[in-house]
Amino acid sequence: MERFDGRVAVVTGGAGGIGRALGERFARAGMKVVLADLDSEPLGRAVDEMRATGHSVIGVETDVSERASVEALADRAYDEYGAIHVCCNNAGVGAGAEGKVWDHTDNDWGWGLSVNLWGVIHGIQAFVPRMLDGGDDGHVVNTSSSNGGIAPLTSTAIYASTKAAVTTLSEVLWGQLRSVDAKIGVSVLYPGPKVLRTGLLESASKRPDRWQNETPRATPFTTIASFEARMRASGIEPDYTPVESVAEEAFAGIRENRFWILPASDRTDGKIRARAASLLDRSEPTYLEDL
Ligand SMILES: NC(=O)c1ccc[n+]([C@@H]2O[C@H](COP(=O)([O-])OP(=O)(O)OC[C@H]3O[C@@H](n4cnc5c(N)ncnc54)[C@H](O)[C@@H]3O)[C@@H](O)[C@H]2O)c1
Repeated sequence: MERFDGRVAVVTGGAGGIGRALGERFARAGMKVVLADLDSEPLGRAVDEMRATGHSVIGVETDVSERASVEALADRAYDEYGAIHVCCNNAGVGAGAEGKVWDHTDNDWGWGLSVNLWGVIHGIQAFVPRMLDGGDDGHVVNTSSSNGGIAPLTSTAIYASTKAAVTTLSEVLWGQLRSVDAKIGVSVLYPGPKVLRTGLLESASKRPDRWQNETPRATPFTTIASFEARMRASGIEPDYTPVESVAEEAFAGIRENRFWILPASDRTDGKIRARAASLLDRSEPTYLEDL
């Protein structure tokens, strides 16, 4: 996609973190922005703050895990702006990390899959047909993670599984849009190369009631504080990638129509090579890491 001014972007999970930074980057390029999020309070704040700097923005309270909610988001976006050109399926949750595959409950899996995977499916199904009908050029960005999208951290079974699925789904979407000569590009976004200090590590605190477990966890979820304490205990000073640089990287990827939006990193490249080598050698996946 080459032209951005006056066009329209929708960003799920747009109230904070990477989503809000994406919204702000698009607005700076002259785009109208639709921010969608489950969390109404920061969503309202993001909309007010962006409007105060002169941008055209609406906020739509949305639960990406619910098809009807995402369809309602698309209706609202098209009523307001008449088109969507960039669709960022970005909403995601940490999804009960640190569990064993065999210990996680159905509600643990249900929450992670419904937001991180169904959320992306719903976004594609609600927006891509309308984007195709509109006939303009456009772009879909699905947010994966190097954790799962490249290689999983063994402590994050659910999260990594959903992000692997988002990578595969994006590859398939790219191929299918190409097969119908669509003018819609696709990218899969791997925020990083380092962790970002966003709400993700604390998303368990916002887990909806319907996905709560009957029995509380025996051990507390990770928080930013416990994550940093663990890093320091292993001699690593916490160091983060800023959300703005992920948004900049994503914007450049859309402009250049790059499928893989994967920041340069020797560490990540090393993992890709090690994983490919393991597959080609039919050897054990010894490249796996824990948190
Ligand atoms: N933070 C990182 O280091 C990192 C690394 C790789 C990938 N990611 C991915 O980036 C994306 C954005 O995460 P972030 O780091 O900005 O975290 P964040 O928690 O700051 O932002 C995620 C947003 O999604 C919203 N959300 C949660 N459930 C939702 C639902 N059901 N419907 C609609 N909105 C919902 C939250 O309210 C929040 O505003 C996620 O997909 C995440 O998996 C993050």
